[in-house]
Amino acid sequence: MKHLISTKNIDIKTLNDIFQLADYYKKEQQSNILSRKIIASIFYEPSTRTRLSFEAAALKLGAKIISTENASQFSSAAKGETLEDTIKIVSSYTDLIVLRHFEKGASKKAITVSAVPIINAGDGTGEHPTQAILDAYTIYNALKALNNLKIALVGDLLNGRTIHSLLILLSLYKNNTIYLVSPKELKLPNANKKILSNKKIKFMESENLKNILPKIDLLYMTRIQKERFKSAKDFEKVKNVYRLTKKMVSTMKKSSIVMHPLPRINEIAKEVDSDSRAAYFRQAQNGLFVRMAILELLLKKF
Ligand code: NCD
Repeated sequence: MKHLISTKNIDIKTLNDIFQLADYYKKEQQSNILSRKIIASIFYEPSTRTRLSFEAAALKLGAKIISTENASQFSSAAKGETLEDTIKIVSSYTDLIVLRHFEKGASKKAITVSAVPIINAGDGTGEHPTQAILDAYTIYNALKALNNLKIALVGDLLNGRTIHSLLILLSLYKNNTIYLVSPKELKLPNANKKILSNKKIKFMESENLKNILPKIDLLYMTRIQKERFKSAKDFEKVKNVYRLTKKMVSTMKKSSIVMHPLPRINEIAKEVDSDSRAAYFRQAQNGLFVRMAILELLLKKF
């Protein structure tokens, strides 16, 4: 693995290697293994967890960071420079680039000109592979398996890149049943559904969340991606379509978990946070250890 731009290139063995290393860093917290490396984080879209956990992960491994948190405004993109030119230059200063961009396929473009590994930290409505890996790690830790699960993915399945990457990972495992819960305007794109059917993964589409809550092991809520809507009116129609309350969580199995890549807006009421099934803050923290593992594995060969 040279770059990480999609979960399509990840197999179960790679995933297990990442999990093992993440477990190690969860205990050890620190190392000096990347002390001679410089990592660039270039973000053309807002981020809290992804950028800061990547930067913290790099620092905890002894690397140095150069960073632009608002590249659309503060890099030469504002003067009209192409992404390819920017990446070509930054890759000549650094050992790895973490890239978030508003355009689907941006990291695919970036790898054509980069001399160093690229990590896709979100490309528009495309993918967000490191989020999916930390999600899989969280599921494995909480439920002790990534197979034989009943899973509901809820919210903006059309635009949610975390969902797109996670479904690819879930389809590596046997005997999962997936409920795709969304309003009809925000259904999972056909191309993503095809990945599931090609792997013979059982899935069902529904608009109703309440009915399936008692059946599932994992509830993965997502934010309606306001920034992807063409009109404010279209967003208004669906913005509060699903809101998970404590009462709804009480209908779920005791052993089940609730996840969310965050930020949450209205999808999960604050009162759910104290329920033992709420796993979203643990999930965000796992991002640090998983990203440490990913940085180490990508940079070891360089
Ligand atoms: C997600 C993203 O950027 O795709 N956030 C994250 O990285 N944790 C989800 C979102 O913004 O809704």
